[in-house]
Amino acid sequence: ELPFAESFKIKMVETIRRSTRAEREQWLKEANYNLFNLKSDQVFIDLLTDSGTGAMSDKQWAAMMTGDESYAGARSYYNMKAAIKNILGFDHFLPTHQGRAAENVLFSVLVKSGDIVPGNSHFDTTKGHIEFRKAKAVDCTIDEAFDTELDHPFKGNVDLVKLESVLTTYPKEQIPMIIITVTCNSSGGQPVSIANLRAVKQLADKYGIPVCYDSARFAENAYFIKMREEGYQDKSIKEIVKEMYSYADMATMSSKKDAIVNMGGFIAMRDEELWKKASTYNIMFEGYVTYGGMSGRDMNALAQGLDEGTEFEYLETRIKQVEYLGEMLHEYGIPFQKPVGGHAIFVDAKKILSHIPKEEFQAQTLGCELYLEAGIRGVEIGTILADRDPETRENRYPELELLRLAIPRRVYTNNHMEVVAAALKNVFNRRLNIKHGFKIIEEAPIMRHFTVHLDKI
Ligand code: F0G
Repeated sequence: ELPFAESFKIKMVETIRRSTRAEREQWLKEANYNLFNLKSDQVFIDLLTDSGTGAMSDKQWAAMMTGDESYAGARSYYNMKAAIKNILGFDHFLPTHQGRAAENVLFSVLVKSGDIVPGNSHFDTTKGHIEFRKAKAVDCTIDEAFDTELDHPFKGNVDLVKLESVLTTYPKEQIPMIIITVTCNSSGGQPVSIANLRAVKQLADKYGIPVCYDSARFAENAYFIKMREEGYQDKSIKEIVKEMYSYADMATMSSKKDAIVNMGGFIAMRDEELWKKASTYNIMFEGYVTYGGMSGRDMNALAQGLDEGTEFEYLETRIKQVEYLGEMLHEYGIPFQKPVGGHAIFVDAKKILSHIPKEEFQAQTLGCELYLEAGIRGVEIGTILADRDPETRENRYPELELLRLAIPRRVYTNNHMEVVAAALKNVFNRRLNIKHGFKIIEEAPIMRHFTVHLDKI
């Protein structure tokens, strides 16, 4: 059998530069040991995020050229509307400049102080927008998700017992929606099975609560359903996506992921009344309802991206690259969340740096070491990101301390993946020589990870 190869060829390239260890030490210090503060030119392989960092296709760039920049009723808006209807099946939508803006607009209508919003490990901006409104996000993810060595095909699944207990504890009026994140970023880019999505919808209907999908990586979720779930092998990704969304009442999407655009997002829903209410906030925060923070060309590229992003060959190329990196790390004995996620590898920093106290930020420490080793930038998904408890102001220590290596779509080659694996192996082999972590010098009251200043202990 022939080896696997990518389902694209490359038409345009961008130069990246290696640096010396001495340069990186200086730059990291100047960045206050916060990888967000580095200039991208100081990074060789940038795995900070897969969000907005993908390479658009020739067809997407062509769509950019035919964008309609009319303020109201632009052709590009109708292209985006048709793509959302075709692929997700929703009649109504509002464009927003990105995912968190969609959350802001939708939650302005639905979430009020004292509310409870159950879900599967809400993403940090989602949780931020819930907590900002003095409501509470309750994590109902299955326990298996928190054991990184356990191989489970759907670690993004909702524990239905945990969910039902929330639905019986609080009155319906206090639960504006259930949010299911597909794939679940916070648990390691892990998918939710179609059986679980169906069961959540049945429970939601029983208690009269709407279901919202946080859809950033919905297509990767559908790929995993096709590969891992009984009865879905012969279905197309688009058929699977259609079924997934038949169990949702509404959706928010950061389109910077699976629609492979650099900026953009939306809210989609079945209920016209909700659309009307959300329109008011969209006009206030984002822009008029037919552009909502996006230019016409960007809406066009997004529509094209939704179609391409739900093609099997594209998804296979993408996820096989993440798996390739995972296989190398596995061979080197480096612990990470298994199985590999759709968009990233989540390295288990708690296991690697178990000799460093959690108060010194293990995942952040590992991230800084990997940068120093080879100019590779990952991101901490641990205590710094988990922020302080809004009431007690104490640090929250999450169950997992992870260093996420997110792979941008269609950007790096497998040679880059080999460099990443080799660099992480070097750090792993010298882990016991890493004696200390970091302390916080300065932090913002909410979402501190973006701007925090750290210093060596
Ligand atoms: N929901 C999920 C599951 C996400 O992963 C993100 C963003 C958002 C919502 C918010 O979307 O960035 O467009 O405002 N995740 C990025 C990441 C930032 O790096 O994982 P946004």
